[in-house]
Amino acid sequence: MANRTPVIVGNWKMFKIGAEATEFDLKFVPLVKDADHCDIVLAPPLTALEAVGRKIEGTRIGLAAQNVHWDQEGAQTGEVSAPMLVDAGCQYVIIGHSERRQFYGETDETVQKKVKAALAEMLTPIVCVGEVLEEREAGRTEQVLQRQFEGGLAALTPPEFSRIIMAYEPVWAIGTGKTATPELAAETHSLLRDAARKRFGDQAAEGLRILYGGSVKPDNVARLMAEEEIDGALVGGASLKPDSFAAIVNF
Ligand code: PGA
Repeated sequence: MANRTPVIVGNWKMFKIGAEATEFDLKFVPLVKDADHCDIVLAPPLTALEAVGRKIEGTRIGLAAQNVHWDQEGAQTGEVSAPMLVDAGCQYVIIGHSERRQFYGETDETVQKKVKAALAEMLTPIVCVGEVLEEREAGRTEQVLQRQFEGGLAALTPPEFSRIIMAYEPVWAIGTGKTATPELAAETHSLLRDAARKRFGDQAAEGLRILYGGSVKPDNVARLMAEEEIDGALVGGASLKPDSFAAIVNF
């Protein structure tokens, strides 16, 4: 049986200035001090990385950025590179979030370049995939996920692949209050695990942690986490309040 440590990630998106982040952490850190059943990660906006980093120092909580550029440095106004994220204290980076795919031109090709760049700096990429509503309704979910997997990840070496985390986020469930049922999420996770198995073998597929994201809340997390295929959660809205995010972590 698979023995994967769950991961619970809070993606703050473009919310919270430094003082608000500090206030969150002062409440949140004690609430999860006994949580050793899962890895915990906070992904604040870039400007709050330092404030959060300071407050979680010496705890089990990891720090993530929400995006990265693939070059190490260069004339790229407004971009931030993997070495810079390491310098800011990150151990993780979210890559290919659907909001970036939908609104900021992220493609499978840029996802692949970003994943490689993050891995080269020993960051753990949290790679997001997921279908939009029309694709699900047209029965194209598997095809879309296959394309995102192939385009974003298939070129990794097996040792590289063993270091990534995936997040399945049906776009129709993000910020909408519509959660995929645990069964539907689990079914879709197994499609991704099959894709991993075909490309990287049994061991890699069994070790791959696949998070579910999309309207995860304190009242639905336990049912989602009861599915063997679901190895954690990528949480947006409900990660902004210390009580609700702690309740999710302590599922
Ligand atoms: P949500 O966002 O929990 O607010 O639906 C999830 C995400 O976008 O990562």
